[in-house]
Amino acid sequence: MTPIQERIEQLRRELNDHNHRYYVDNAPVISDQEFDRLMKELEELEQAHPEYADPLSPTQRVGSDLTKGFEQTPHIYPMLSLANTYSIEEVDEWVHRTRDALMGQEFTVVGEMKFDGSGISLIYEDGRLVRAVTRGDGEKGDIVTDNIKTIRSIPLVLKGEGWPRFFEIRGEIVLPWKEFDRLNAERAFNEEPLFANPRNAASGTLKMQNSREVARRGLDARFYYLLGPDLPYDNHYDNMVAARSWGFKVSTAMTCLHTLQEVDDYINHWDTARKELPVATDGLVFKVNSLRQQLNLGYRSKSPRWAIAYKFQAERALTRLRFVSFEVGRMGIVTPVANLDPVLLSGTIVKRASLHNEDIIKALDIHEHDMLYVEKGGEIIPKITGVEEAEREKGARPVEFVSYCPSCGTKLVRKEDEAAWMCPNKYGCPPQITGRVEHFVGRRMMNIDGIGEETSELLFQTGLVKNIADLYSLRKEQLEGLEGFGEKSADRIMQGIEDSKKVPFDRVVYALSIPYVGETVAKKLAKGVGSMDNLMTMSRDDLVAIEDIGPKIADSIIEYFAAPINQQIIARLREVGIQMEMAQEATAPLGDALKGKSVVISGVFEHHSRDQYKEMIERYGGKNVGSVSKKTDFILAGANMGPAKLEKAQKLGIPVINEDEFLAMLGKER
Ligand code: IVH
Repeated sequence: MTPIQERIEQLRRELNDHNHRYYVDNAPVISDQEFDRLMKELEELEQAHPEYADPLSPTQRVGSDLTKGFEQTPHIYPMLSLANTYSIEEVDEWVHRTRDALMGQEFTVVGEMKFDGSGISLIYEDGRLVRAVTRGDGEKGDIVTDNIKTIRSIPLVLKGEGWPRFFEIRGEIVLPWKEFDRLNAERAFNEEPLFANPRNAASGTLKMQNSREVARRGLDARFYYLLGPDLPYDNHYDNMVAARSWGFKVSTAMTCLHTLQEVDDYINHWDTARKELPVATDGLVFKVNSLRQQLNLGYRSKSPRWAIAYKFQAERALTRLRFVSFEVGRMGIVTPVANLDPVLLSGTIVKRASLHNEDIIKALDIHEHDMLYVEKGGEIIPKITGVEEAEREKGARPVEFVSYCPSCGTKLVRKEDEAAWMCPNKYGCPPQITGRVEHFVGRRMMNIDGIGEETSELLFQTGLVKNIADLYSLRKEQLEGLEGFGEKSADRIMQGIEDSKKVPFDRVVYALSIPYVGETVAKKLAKGVGSMDNLMTMSRDDLVAIEDIGPKIADSIIEYFAAPINQQIIARLREVGIQMEMAQEATAPLGDALKGKSVVISGVFEHHSRDQYKEMIERYGGKNVGSVSKKTDFILAGANMGPAKLEKAQKLGIPVINEDEFLAMLGKER
């Protein structure tokens, strides 16, 4: 080994050790600066000596911006689920059943936390991580190794000794509460939809295409199951303790329990103590410790007989319903909201909870002033889950859904096979108008700073803004005349309005509040139609021919542009200079290298996403088609190309080219 190579190896060992001390033991022994200095030294050495590169080096944890799809692979051992119960008695029954099945043999139970995240299977060979696979359908999952590598508490190279040459370890990828709150605050700021709970956030993050973004999210992991042909011990507990010594984060809540009393005490303890944990848990898991006894007990179709999950009851409170209010959104949907006597639930005071729609009010059979059960579970939004009928006031009447709009008095309508009641007075109902203005100015739409809910209402009440086009007739003096406004705030809004004229066409389409046209649909539409003129005049058939646009969306678009008021609004927006077509550079042809060629795309790619390849084909004059036929000129194939396609291509003698060859055809370097 050269001295350089030795230094590289030493730095890797040291950095792995510090990572473990920081992210697993929570006990760093060096400062962040010192850590960064070592990392920098290693980065520089690796850059200068690419011959010593290692994909599992601690420098490789920052992720990469390369986006690529996920390959799937079958699990070596299927990923099963666990039988569930919510009662301590049923856990006791399981202990008795297990004793019977083991014909009275002595046995130990291991108690551990049930972590509420996204299941993961990691494969190690010769002490090195080779693959990380999501649970998927239990039989096969997605390979997410690149994303997993960014999680600092997961060892890429094992420490200690005694690990089998080959093994699998199962665990849960979790997003700690602190990171979850931070992520949601950031999403709220960017007006992106919030994650309902850390589990959704963790699984969403694991499936992100861009591992650099994953690295930023602060994921963590807990491990609870070791599998393989030659494990060091004949019992679960000792194997997990060994795994801990190799660098895995194994919860210290894991304990051996010897009597029924100890099992019950464990449950009672963690029922409350879990609230102090930094990560979400949704229960406890009890497992028979001996692997030999596990084997004896065996499996039911989807779960082992040797384990059971005790699920925590979601936190629940009982409180009085003051009244139900009915609130009208920008699309005219009327949402019933339970206004409650304030009650403390999982650390926050709850005063309101959505009742969603009429069917839910009926199903719960809510009466005036009822005592209601409110739950939070792992969700951030409280939910009404039931009524305490014993406490119902005599003569209380059932809560009735309103028949007329609480805001403008118009008779409500309910579309067939939809649960929601709507106020049809689209252009005259105040909350619908102000809701649309509020949406229009949002950060992800026209991004006009300084106008929120209150200002949109104020602008409407003062008669200054009756629709989105009116924003562009506002004058600075008018804003300055409003209560609470000064020159500075007026300037800010005027500047925002001016800047919004440069916002690209797809965001303009989204900003209009056309029912069923959300952000993603707007992007596809804008690309598919190219201009507002086209969008306004296209037939239903033409619209449906655009990718991901179904008949429901098409009809909604046609209805929107049929209204004279919307035509006028568009005309006024056009006049003031709002972007009415896709910017040239996004669709303009780049060349004719593929002129007239019919290309099929198949498999997963490394350098660009499938959508990007599709766009390239079109912009170089070719056509992307879905299936292989005689007319296909060639197939652009990535990894894992479908076998049927490959066979057909071979049969028809159609060339199959890889991405590098393809990029070379376009004269690109990648
Ligand atoms: S053991 C064959 N232990 O819960 C049994 N699972 O509902 C393998 N989970 O798919 C699972 N904490 O994703 C086990 N301490 C724990 C767990 C745990 C969370 C998850 C896991 C599993 C699901 C079953």
